[in-house]
Amino acid sequence: MTFDPRLPLRGQKALVTGASSGIGAAIASAFGAAGAAVGVNYRSHPEEAGRIVEAIRGAGGEAMALKADVSREDEVRTMFDAFGDAFGRLDVLVANSGVQRDAAFAEMTLDQWRRVIDVNLTGQFLCAREAVRRFLAQAPDPSVSRATGKIICMSSVHEVIPWAGHVNYAASKGGVMLMMKSLAQEVAQAGIRVNGIAPGAIRTPINREAWETPEAERKLLELIPYARVGEPEDIARAAVWLASDASDYVVGTTLFVDGGMTLYPGFRENG
Ligand code: BGC
Repeated sequence: MTFDPRLPLRGQKALVTGASSGIGAAIASAFGAAGAAVGVNYRSHPEEAGRIVEAIRGAGGEAMALKADVSREDEVRTMFDAFGDAFGRLDVLVANSGVQRDAAFAEMTLDQWRRVIDVNLTGQFLCAREAVRRFLAQAPDPSVSRATGKIICMSSVHEVIPWAGHVNYAASKGGVMLMMKSLAQEVAQAGIRVNGIAPGAIRTPINREAWETPEAERKLLELIPYARVGEPEDIARAAVWLASDASDYVVGTTLFVDGGMTLYPGFRENG
């Protein structure tokens, strides 16, 4: 096929989890604008998912809202079935849903530990497994993409940066990294590309406290060499590239989109 840089996802069918707000919402919108038909997964905010769907349709794209808790096997299967019924095939999964339940380690409850692992790690496992099954069962369509299918796992700089007070979250993202790489190694021969994105501090509801007051933002910027808090669109543009044939030879990589947060900024004036 001829790759069209203005519509890099033309003809592709993409499912984005956790797409009713934050990074997921920006990815869903960017995918729609890039020519993909988009499944907008949400768990508890149908109105917000509906707004994203309407915006994509209003701009001439195709989209549908899909309710599912990604940590539940039955709901994940039903969601992929509904997506397949509507769009006929699956080309891209963005496993994006994620939560934080922060606590000092000694105070962390088993529920806080479990919820984060269930959504951030087990949820990605369940969705990626379902996506791989569907990719393997359908014939590749070289008119839309050279790959048989693509999975993008939403990770975090905390797949490598330890994070006191957030041990459950950092453990989940470290797990996402090696799940992503091991899966990438396992399915690459079948033409499936699996990669990850590791966002730094992005202005979304999950970390509102870290940027909402000028003082908090000033403190946060000490950790970001590029001196600005990221926007969800910064991540969405990276996701469009990873889902498109422009990145066709990129397999099993984490793309850090973090304004330099992983560059040990504490060493600028120290060490
Ligand atoms: C977390 C945010 C945090 C950022 C950088 C993300 O993965 O969800 O709360 O601001 O990492 O520390």
